[in-house]
Amino acid sequence: MKFGYFDDAAKEYVITTPKTPLPWINYLGTNDFFSLISNTAGGYSFYKDAKLLRLTRFRYNNVPGDSNGKYYYIKDGNTVWNPGWMPTKTDLDSYECRHGIGYSKWNSSKNGVSASVLAFVPTDDTCEINQLKLTNNTDSVKELKLFSYVEWCLWNAADDMQNFQRNFSTGEVEVIDSTIYHKTEYRERRNHYAIYHVNAKIDGFDTQRENFLGAYRDNHDPEVVFDKGACTGSIAHGWSPVAVHEITVKLEPGETKSYVFILGYCENPDNDKWESKNVVNKKPAKALISKYQTDADVDKAFAKLKEYWDNLLSIYTLESSNDKVNRMVNIWNQYQCMVTFNMSRSASYYESGIGRGMGFRDSNQDLLGFVHLIPERARERIIDIASTQFENGSAYHQYQPLTKRGNSDIGSGFNDDPLWLIAGTSAYVRETGDVSILKEIVPYDNDMSVATTLMEHLKRSFDFTVNNKGPHKLPLIGRADWNDCLNLNCFSEHPGESFQCFGPSEGPVAESVFIAGMFVKYGEEYAQLAELLGDTAEAERARKEVKIMYDTVLEAGWDGDWFVRAYDAYSNKIGSKECEEGKIFIESNGFCSLAGIGVKEGLAEKALDSVKKYLDCKYGVMILQPAYTVYHLELGEISSYPPGYKENAGIFCHNNPWVSIAETVIGRGDRAFEIYKKTCPAYTEEISEIHKTEPYVYCQMVAGNDAYIPGEGKNSWLTGTAAWTFVNISQYILGVYPTHKGLSVDPCVPSDFGDFKVTRKFRGATYEISVKTNGSQKGVKKLIVDGQEVEGTVIPFVEGKKEYKVEVVM
Ligand code: BGC
Ligand code: NOJ
Repeated sequence: MKFGYFDDAAKEYVITTPKTPLPWINYLGTNDFFSLISNTAGGYSFYKDAKLLRLTRFRYNNVPGDSNGKYYYIKDGNTVWNPGWMPTKTDLDSYECRHGIGYSKWNSSKNGVSASVLAFVPTDDTCEINQLKLTNNTDSVKELKLFSYVEWCLWNAADDMQNFQRNFSTGEVEVIDSTIYHKTEYRERRNHYAIYHVNAKIDGFDTQRENFLGAYRDNHDPEVVFDKGACTGSIAHGWSPVAVHEITVKLEPGETKSYVFILGYCENPDNDKWESKNVVNKKPAKALISKYQTDADVDKAFAKLKEYWDNLLSIYTLESSNDKVNRMVNIWNQYQCMVTFNMSRSASYYESGIGRGMGFRDSNQDLLGFVHLIPERARERIIDIASTQFENGSAYHQYQPLTKRGNSDIGSGFNDDPLWLIAGTSAYVRETGDVSILKEIVPYDNDMSVATTLMEHLKRSFDFTVNNKGPHKLPLIGRADWNDCLNLNCFSEHPGESFQCFGPSEGPVAESVFIAGMFVKYGEEYAQLAELLGDTAEAERARKEVKIMYDTVLEAGWDGDWFVRAYDAYSNKIGSKECEEGKIFIESNGFCSLAGIGVKEGLAEKALDSVKKYLDCKYGVMILQPAYTVYHLELGEISSYPPGYKENAGIFCHNNPWVSIAETVIGRGDRAFEIYKKTCPAYTEEISEIHKTEPYVYCQMVAGNDAYIPGEGKNSWLTGTAAWTFVNISQYILGVYPTHKGLSVDPCVPSDFGDFKVTRKFRGATYEISVKTNGSQKGVKKLIVDGQEVEGTVIPFVEGKKEYKVEVVM
């Protein structure tokens, strides 16, 4: 069952009922100012950091869900309604929400009045714009009241939810004309405030929540709107500051009136904070407001945003006979990659924005799906991430985006982390050819006195694995590898202890076959980077180490029909036929196979057949089977989840593409695509009532066969799935892969995929690539570049050449 449809021409998903199975959200913002916004206008805004600089309040896990938001109450006689349906939930005569690329729009109507709202964050300013248009479609005059409503967050979102003894006394605002200034804590250590403005004369305002809502009432029936019909002019002192504008709207038959609301973040220099004693310096606010006074101003900013996105989305485009794949590749998958790159795992409807900052492994993987879009930002990100690495090659697992400092609460010890830095950097250099990044001087743990080149960082990443091996000569796992819940050195017995951070957690025995697979894959990419710098000795050394690891995996990491997952702290196998539960895992099988381990020996094929046989289900490939049914002290968080959920036999969408990529490595296009389809939003849209999460983006986890409702998705938006599925479809299935020497084209498609065209911008040139598949799954028979046949699959890169016409015959 569907709750809307894709409008591909407009690059929008159109939601046709407010009653979606879960709130379906969108992200506004490209740089520093961001808003989460749901199909019923719920959500919140923040500047740079969802924890430390949150502008508006949202109540996670509230009842009803998805509150607060940016709400407009339209009072028409005795009827009060909202264009987004929430929070009054008044039945609407029509409703439509269009989530677009960096904006959302509503078109709704009630009793002859229609309302359209356009919400977006302009590319150049730290604000969200809402353009609200009201039209009278009746034959008689309409006298309406319009009330806007946002609730301020007292900046630090964590403190805001717990430190009530202080926070109920700190709130402060100023109101001048149609602008409400939220200035809590500005009198002391802050140099920033927020504004909520409308470009019209107002008839009233409120800034104290209690005055607006009334005692024991909530935002679904505010006293001011429902009973009084007029604001009280309250000025918040302490308690809960809000911002409400009251506007009288008189509409002649057929008339439309338009209002521009601005929710903005403003900063002043420390020595220029005040206009007069305790009166905020409003210069930056006035400058911001003056830019968006008319509909023409809004149209201009909106057109700029569209242009920005159209440009980005023109870098990789696909024309094929499969609409679902086209829309994922051309629009939604790349869009999600941008959002995950911006947010890491910090702020979604599942990530509260107060916990995790930027993940070391997460951000590096996000880069894989993003690097072709804005390589300059990817470059900056790589340097930021590498700056949180330790001198011995290990790394802080997370860092805060505002301070860019490693997060010592979590610390290090996730032994896959270092290798992801090689993955991210290699992707950047292959994309851009910018070798200079390898020579950048980058600190360790932000300490410039011990800085080295980025290449030296990568060497230490590589050597971290070389120097930290266990009894089978496989990499030590530390606190966890990619699977945060495989905590083999934790042994937690008390509720509340963090499985990731508890105890010393870095034992000398437990090993990871998954990290071994990573080492083989990224060890080779490291060797190639060394070669680029002319260091053939280092490349040779690296390849020797990779060969040793390859052999070790075949010796100690092969279980007969698939790859073992790990060895625990007692050196017992995990993910082996010897185990009672958790006999086979997806990660080691996917990653070792995609790294090429066992391909020539026929073992990769065997492993992938086993994956199909034991882990496949209707909704994707499960992470492990059989599910753990009891808590295993020696395994950690993985067995803490009930069977079928999350890391305990859920379908982790992130590693499904690893298996799909591995299938392309052995040339099975039908199977690679079958796996791709199972978790692909454009395909799961059909079962939205089961899947529940947004049908235009991936979620982290879908409940596996053992769960109560198999197929139910959770944790949408912020997941490495976005990057990996894009890598899978664009670089492996469609096969357009950036190498150091140029673009390689080597598709691996299902036999009925048909011919297709990819347009790819790469290192300043445009490549028009036409592929004739001839019903084949893999294998390039002919590569013709500008009429000339070329050996192999790599289009030779010619400096300065702007256009390449490429024909590929399979
Ligand atoms: C989740 C993981 C997550 C980890 C670290 C666990 O509870 O299941 O997916 O990576 O916490 O935050
Ligand atoms: C989510 C985390 O963000 C990611 O780093 C991890 O790899 C997966 N969970 C699997 O546990």
